[in-house]
Amino acid sequence: MMDLSRLCEERPIVQAPMAGGTTTPALVAAVSAAGGLGSLPAGYLTADALGARIDEVRGLGARTFAVNLFAPSSSRSPECDDALAAYRSVLAAVAHRLAVEVGPARYDDDDWDAKVDLLVEARVPVVSFTFGCPSEEVLTRLRTAGSATIVTVTTVAEARTAVARGADGVCAQGVEAGGHRATFDPEHADDRPLAELLPDVVRAVDVPVIAAGGIMDGADVAAALSSGAVAAQSGTAFLRCPESGAQPVHKAALTDPDFTETSLTCAFTGRPARGLTNRFILDHSDAPCAYPQVHHMTKPLRAAATRAADPEGMALWAGTGFRRARELPAGELVAVLREEAAGAGATL
Ligand SMILES: Cc1cc2nc3c(=O)[nH]c(=O)nc-3n(C[C@H](O)[C@H](O)[C@H](O)COP(=O)(O)O)c2cc1C
Repeated sequence: MMDLSRLCEERPIVQAPMAGGTTTPALVAAVSAAGGLGSLPAGYLTADALGARIDEVRGLGARTFAVNLFAPSSSRSPECDDALAAYRSVLAAVAHRLAVEVGPARYDDDDWDAKVDLLVEARVPVVSFTFGCPSEEVLTRLRTAGSATIVTVTTVAEARTAVARGADGVCAQGVEAGGHRATFDPEHADDRPLAELLPDVVRAVDVPVIAAGGIMDGADVAAALSSGAVAAQSGTAFLRCPESGAQPVHKAALTDPDFTETSLTCAFTGRPARGLTNRFILDHSDAPCAYPQVHHMTKPLRAAATRAADPEGMALWAGTGFRRARELPAGELVAVLREEAAGAGATL
């Protein structure tokens, strides 16, 4: 099996998986070629589509990369159905203005079983998870197939659960992070900044810990490593790379003086996620916490906003450090982060 400590020692810069088209196979391949660890997101894809992306990454020459899965969320409650019905009527007005219909409040598990089966066959070096911790059985199947497993966590308790089930490593995600919070139970989230969470997780578990959340430059990488992380994972820092599949409107918003801050919101997907604060977030601050139903409901609205190139209606996922995202080819960014981290005293 892939030795995660050694892998992270060799590749201390991890490019975060960013589902929804942002992380392209070209981005993963460029990062891995530059000596980082590229992560291919599987979220929202069918198992077949994931298989095709893995082939594409391998076709681009990458061998050492991670694949990231969304662990299934807990199922719906009757109260959740009432909240979804209320949110549907709020969204209907927005949909009407955009000449689309609100999507179905559908529950699904993101093709979980088929993707796990596919990854057992595909034998990629690393499989990471967000939104929850898989069963011991799934983690064992993947390890037996030769993959190291990483569970993303937002609390010490989540880290302990992941290790007890046999995860080979954890990714400690601070509240600064762009995109979805990895929290296992969004109803009981604990939104701690990375600088507080990381040392506590490092003390609590005896597996390699990867740090994520607001890591934008080499000084941030060095700080994470000096707090005991084996590697630093960045998402927002890669959004402006030419290999990033982020929509041009999304890329432009990162430097637009009209966007000054980020917020955590359930408005787009029903799971807390951090994005640039825009009209859609401000107008739907009481959206229900019901994933993936809300994701499916808002999908046509987000697509219409994207077609209209309207940043006020799109999910512009970004972490708190978004203003420091650089427009650099991904391989160059990996090299610059390493150089800066070394300059800031890190040994890597
Ligand atoms: C656009 C975007 C999409 C994301 N999608 C995923 C995902 O599919 N899976 C995942 O585990 N994390 C996802 N994340 C979170 C990252 O893994 C990581 O925790 C985060 O980017 C770190 O914080 P930073 O954005 O400040 O670097 C996403 C982040 C962004 C910005």
